[in-house]
Amino acid sequence: LKKLKPMPKDFLWGASTSAYQVEGANLTHGKGPSVQDIKKVPEGTSELDVCADFYHHYKEDIALMAEMGFKTFRFSVAWSRILPEGTGAVNQEGIDFYNNVIDECLKYNIEPLVTMFHFDLPAALEKKGGWSRRESVDEFVNFAKILYENYGDRVKYWLTINEQNVLTLNGEVIGTCDLKGVDNKYKKLYQENHHMLLAQAKAMALCHEMVPGGKIGPAPNISLVYPASCKPKDVLAAQNLNAIRNWLYLDMAVFGRYNNLVWAFLEEHDATPVIEDGDMDIMASAHPDFIGFNYYSTATVEWNDGTEPAGRGDQQISGDEPGVFKAYPNPNLLRTEFGWEIDPDGFRATMREIYSRYHLPMIVTENGLGAYDKLTEDGKVHDQYRIEYLRKHIEQIKLACSEGVEMMGYCPWSAIDLVSTHEGVVKRYGFIYVNRDEFDLKDLARYKKDSFYWYKKVIETNGEDL
Ligand code: BG6
Repeated sequence: LKKLKPMPKDFLWGASTSAYQVEGANLTHGKGPSVQDIKKVPEGTSELDVCADFYHHYKEDIALMAEMGFKTFRFSVAWSRILPEGTGAVNQEGIDFYNNVIDECLKYNIEPLVTMFHFDLPAALEKKGGWSRRESVDEFVNFAKILYENYGDRVKYWLTINEQNVLTLNGEVIGTCDLKGVDNKYKKLYQENHHMLLAQAKAMALCHEMVPGGKIGPAPNISLVYPASCKPKDVLAAQNLNAIRNWLYLDMAVFGRYNNLVWAFLEEHDATPVIEDGDMDIMASAHPDFIGFNYYSTATVEWNDGTEPAGRGDQQISGDEPGVFKAYPNPNLLRTEFGWEIDPDGFRATMREIYSRYHLPMIVTENGLGAYDKLTEDGKVHDQYRIEYLRKHIEQIKLACSEGVEMMGYCPWSAIDLVSTHEGVVKRYGFIYVNRDEFDLKDLARYKKDSFYWYKKVIETNGEDL
């Protein structure tokens, strides 16, 4: 495209965080433990008790976001800060904390974009069996109701479950599930998945009932899957993983029906979930207003004839099943310091594909580059690599918009440095540097990285000056 159209004028520029990765105060101020607080943190990484200490720095942090010109801030509410046991008594201090965060955003005309659940199921519920129990559906809906009652007068944009597909496909890596001793892992995972889908559908319907003008959508991680070659069998393998990794979640959120390839896969493995009467009607009648999605990179696969073990990535679900797929490192892509493939063109391909399947407006709820940033003696962080990464991805949003894809906003990961899912604090993503190391908390002072000033300019010019 030679002629780019201007970005939509009310485009929601912002960035994201999640409660358990940024807040700290994880077992104080009335908060109950979540699954993240009871997991064994990976060797060499810090506990989650301080993180970026957003709990005590939120005013300063939101002021910095306002200085960058944020139109929105995506953050999550910790279920166990509001309901320490997951159900029952409410922790008023928790309610107040998010009230303060929301009000602080609104003070600067920053639209809060609230994720209801980001990898942090209350430990008390996990102990009872977590999402494997049917009761989990009502527990989530009860939590959603409390959120709408308390915040629905000010929060108009809601996201249901962060990366439900990653919870199902890679929960062991992010510490949200333990499959030791489980006979049929697919049976367990897809039953939990069914409950989450149902909980999501009910929460979407309830949002429309309770929140005047409220808009709600899912937030899976969508990575378009490429075939490793033009061999027809590789194309079939890519379709398999696209269905298992991506479309199952969006087909369900938007149309309320199980993707047929995934259903066939589950039948093959004796792992179809128990579906009660009325479940499918509930799912078919709930509708998202938009699609939120996280994008870091694409995936590439080749046919798996079952004679070799699975490749890297997506191991939990994965391709050691004959005839499904085998991961394939894409030789055409550069990688981050942490080995993640970088694929801005694939970002556009992903936006095009989602839009052509679902025809709903979209907001990017995560995208970004994890790196070992260095604070210089004079308090600067020269993160040109991050600027390059983000610039190339925003260029693709501009191209996609010019091609008629409806994009509502962009919230890269992350607004501020925080703790990564399993590679510690030193894997940084933020525009704002937090002065701490893995085990040395230092003074937790905030420093503006070069990307901070760059993003400010991008927002000021509505994406014209990249
Ligand atoms: C997404 C998650 O998967 O990727 C975030 O929603 C996470 O919680 C982000 O932090 C980056 O991944 P990581 O493993 O580098 O923290």
